[in-house]
Amino acid sequence: MANLQGYVKPGSIEESLSSQIDFTRLPRHIALIMDGNGRWAKARNLPRLSGHRAGIQSVRDVVETCARLEIEYLTLYALSVDNWKRPATEISGLMRLIIEYMNLELDTLIRENIRFRPIGRIEQLDPAVQQELQKGVARTAACTGLNFNIALNYGGRTEIVDGVKRLLKESLAHGGQIPAVDEDAFTSYLYTAGMPDPDLLIRTSGEMRVSNFLLWQIAYAEFYVTETLWPDFRAQHLFEAILHYQRRERRYGGLSDSFAATEPLANQR
Ligand code: IPE
Ligand code: IPE
Ligand code: MG
Repeated sequence: MANLQGYVKPGSIEESLSSQIDFTRLPRHIALIMDGNGRWAKARNLPRLSGHRAGIQSVRDVVETCARLEIEYLTLYALSVDNWKRPATEISGLMRLIIEYMNLELDTLIRENIRFRPIGRIEQLDPAVQQELQKGVARTAACTGLNFNIALNYGGRTEIVDGVKRLLKESLAHGGQIPAVDEDAFTSYLYTAGMPDPDLLIRTSGEMRVSNFLLWQIAYAEFYVTETLWPDFRAQHLFEAILHYQRRERRYGGLSDSFAATEPLANQR
């Protein structure tokens, strides 16, 4: 089971929060929309890219905390297919930051047994970025701890369309036969094939929308929004999100246990 000893300082807010977590009921998969970098920079009269740069420390913190908690999957939303609408200088700055992050962190990821995988239309990214990402994938392929996905040039609708295209291609290769597809079978055509759906979806910076993130997979994810801007997000905020998650009752369309038990038999037709 997770061991935070030596990771959270005795007497700190992190210790107080993490001591309330039920380690037997952690989310298997946490998805996170990292938002608010621009606003963080604007509040300090800095260029937007400084906000993105500051966000790297939050990425480090959250990845390490999830690894310590022994969370199985973490998916961070770093660049959407719609972010290309932004000025070219912001996009090229983000690409440089991705390369920088990979160079800086790859050894740590390997040391911490973290398996790295980008999801999205990676083939459309700059070749230099693709090369760094591929290096990360290859060098962490044998890691068996936290599965760390980073969504880059990602769109939820794009992912579903890409899945349908793959399915059609496969069926053409098999003589045009329409395969038997159900929900389970279809998930194997998504970028997240083989991974459990997110249990907890966190968004920073107070925005109440999903912005095209993991549309298929979040059907029953618990949504948690914090006002904290991404560059200010630390282990403490992750603990708060997990504590909120553990107070929720997940019903998946069914009834709450207590309600089902008290309903008179006559009404159960
Ligand atoms: C999130 O921060 C990072 C990316 C989308 C790349 P934003 O850049 O969206 O920051 P705000 O929302 O403008 O504050
Ligand atoms: C979502 O944030 C995308 C990422 C965090 C990478 P945006 O800032 O792009 O989303 P909107 O425009 O507020 O919906
Ligand atoms: Mg934003």
